[in-house]
Amino acid sequence: MKVCRRETFNAAHRLFREEWSDEKNLAVFGKCSHPNFHGHNYVLEIWVEGEIDPLTGFVIDLKILKDIILTKVIDRFDHRNLNLDCPEFKGINPTTENIAKVVWEILRKELDAKFELEVQVQETEKNKVLYKGS
Ligand code: NI
Repeated sequence: MKVCRRETFNAAHRLFREEWSDEKNLAVFGKCSHPNFHGHNYVLEIWVEGEIDPLTGFVIDLKILKDIILTKVIDRFDHRNLNLDCPEFKGINPTTENIAKVVWEILRKELDAKFELEVQVQETEKNKVLYKGS
């Protein structure tokens, strides 16, 4: 059984490689490489898989999951510049893929090992990624 908590945050980023020219960065990363950063309204879907607890009827109490996501992820990234403010992305391009991986690694440490974890990050209405630990 899988359950999901959805949360959102807003953050700025820039996708680029320092050693590449502006032209090459623009060719590879498009508008996301503009030097002065830009923002996205990110949508997270945190999926937790496990057995239903016969005592509570829950896989995991979604209020507990919500509190973990808010304190460990949203407080950390909301209204931040991912490149400049967030050491998690030092030397790592804050692509949707890498955001999903970073969020998964943060949450994996917070959840009991009996749960499977999947992190979906939506960057735009049309683009989203899913990370399951690989
Ligand atoms: Ni972007």
